[in-house]
Amino acid sequence: MNKDEVDLLFDAQTISKRISSLGCAIAKNEPSDLFVVVILKGSFVFAADLIRAIEDAGTSTKVDFITLSSYGSGYESSGTVKLVHDLSESVKGRTVLIVDDILESGRTIAFARDTMRKRQAKTVKTCLLLDKPKKRIVDIEADYLGFKIEDQFVVGYGIDLANRYRGLPFLGVVPSGLDQTSIEKI
Ligand code: IMP
Ligand code: MG
Repeated sequence: MNKDEVDLLFDAQTISKRISSLGCAIAKNEPSDLFVVVILKGSFVFAADLIRAIEDAGTSTKVDFITLSSYGSGYESSGTVKLVHDLSESVKGRTVLIVDDILESGRTIAFARDTMRKRQAKTVKTCLLLDKPKKRIVDIEADYLGFKIEDQFVVGYGIDLANRYRGLPFLGVVPSGLDQTSIEKI
């Protein structure tokens, strides 16, 4: 990880404050024993802070993980969502909150939502850290959202480029001059 390659978008304190408010809103609106479905890998840091914010605000959670992949290793989504690893528990009859890092075309979150609905979850809500509304293809909005951003490539706080930068404690933008070829060389 090299902080100098990345321009700051949101610092750790700004992210933390926003997640506390999300936790309060979720605890206020959703029932206890919320089944949190975390989409790996990009949202694992966000989800770790979010479930503690929800619990702090008085609502208990259970957590499970699903790995979905649409990106490959570069900047552009492939357009097809693949289920790489499934949940270990059934969602039937449960109140599900799907957590993901970024809402872009909407394909990933729509795929996750439709999968939970097919499996007869009682209700399915979504919580996203970031939204790039200009890139939307599927008509879907987050029920809970951290920040709306411009169409820019974000890394840090769990979010990667080619599996790099996940450990940065802040959200940043990779300058557009850094193309995939130069990234591989760094
Ligand atoms: P969508 O299916 O097009 O909405 O894309 C959402 C998925 O693409 C997210 O779960 C992210 O993993 C990934 N993604 C979208 N934008 C970015 C980005 O700026 N940086 C890293 N990953 C991204
Ligand atoms: Mg993802």
